[in-house]
Parts: sequence; structure tokens; C-alpha cells
Amino acid sequence: MPPEAASRTTASGAMSGRQRQTRQTGARQTGGAKAARDTSASRAPRSASVKAAAKAAPATRSAASRTARPSARRSKDALAFLKQDHRTVEGLFKQFEEATDGRTRSSLMRRIAQALTVHAQIEEEILYPAARQELEDHDLLNEAQVEHDSAKKLIAEIEQMRPSEQLYKAKVTVLKEYVKHHVKEEERELFPLLKKCDLDLEAMGEELANRHQELMKGSSAARSRARRTGAETGMQLRG
Ligand SMILES: [Fe+2]
Ligand SMILES: [Fe+2]
Repeated sequence: MPPEAASRTTASGAMSGRQRQTRQTGARQTGGAKAARDTSASRAPRSASVKAAAKAAPATRSAASRTARPSARRSKDALAFLKQDHRTVEGLFKQFEEATDGRTRSSLMRRIAQALTVHAQIEEEILYPAARQELEDHDLLNEAQVEHDSAKKLIAEIEQMRPSEQLYKAKVTVLKEYVKHHVKEEERELFPLLKKCDLDLEAMGEELANRHQELMKGSSAARSRARRTGAETGMQLRG
């Protein structure tokens, strides 16, 4: 990921205002009751357990959730939205593998970096904080964060390289493998646990989609500005 993308990412920093807000948005209020481990979680590949919600207490939707629902748009729930985003990135990696020239590879790598950076950011801002509130065992989430950070470092390295450099393609292949492993853990281990939680996944899906759109717009605008500035600097140097 380019330096500007890295600085945009709130990877491992202190929790932002958005993250704090999201803790209230994604998770339905549970009346303060924290129940024992959900024994069904023991069937999961890891022993992460779910803090069962106080089913007896009526779920009170947060202000953000209440405002998210009335639009009644047929939006995807959070997990479906993120899975679709995973498929988009996999498609970009496939196109990268099939590309035969450096220009196309470079362009695809920029799209992969943008897609991964935005995807990681919305998970870190919205999904993971809500999941931390619901799951007693944070191992999966901690590993996921470390995997995000490793991928970001590798993206930053790749973006400093030219496609013609010897290790360029190998680094993109390793990035693809990192992402494949990470996506497998999210979809096979984390998401099934979250389905059992008392999370409003529909409201969260809408929040993820909105934030995703906002970040993609911002990141595209920043790249256009950088390209214009680069072109102008080039013209000045040539002039
Ligand atoms: Fe992730
Ligand atoms: Fe993901």
C-alpha cells in the first residue's frame, strides 16, 4: 500500500470516534447481562465462544441502527457484504495472474491495494470492534489484525516497486496467499461465530456499505490528485 494509503488506514491505532460509535451500532444492547460460554461454539474449529445475549430483554436498537433501517433498501447483511468484497479481490488477483504486461499488472495492483485497504479499514472500524464486544475469546480477532497489518506492509513494499523488478510478481503472489488464508479464517471461523451473536448484521451491512463507498471515493480522489501532481511536476521538470 502506498504511504498515503497506509496513513489512511487506522490499522492498529487507538480506537477512533467511529469505532466507538460502531461498538454501539453493530451490537444490539444486551441489557448488560453476560451469559456463560455458548457450548455450540465448541464445535467451531477454534474455541472462540460467544457471549450469549440476554434474550429475555427486548433488544433496544441503537440510534444508528434505527436510522439505518427505515430506508428499507434490500441491502446485504454485513457478512454477505464482506464475502462479496472478498470475491471482488479474488477476481482482481486472478486478472493480475492472467495479465501479460507490466502496465496492466501495475494498474491491477493499484486496484488490489485500494480494495484491500478499504476492506481492512471497514472491518477494523466496524466489524472487529463489534465482534470484540460479543466474543469472549479474542484470538481470532487478534490474528486477523496481525494478518491485516502484514498484508498492509507487503502492499506498501509492492507499491514502491516496478512490475519489471525481479520480485514484484512473487510479492503479489505471496500477498494473494496471505489474503486467501485470512479470508478462509474469516469466512469459515469468524463469520459463523458472529452469526450466533446478537448483532444486527443488517444494520451493520448498511453501515459497512456506506463507509466502503465513502472510502473508495476518497481513495480514488487522492490517487487522481497524486497523478495530476505527478504529471504537473513532470511537466515542470521537463520545461
Ligand atoms: Fe479481514
Ligand atoms: Fe475480510
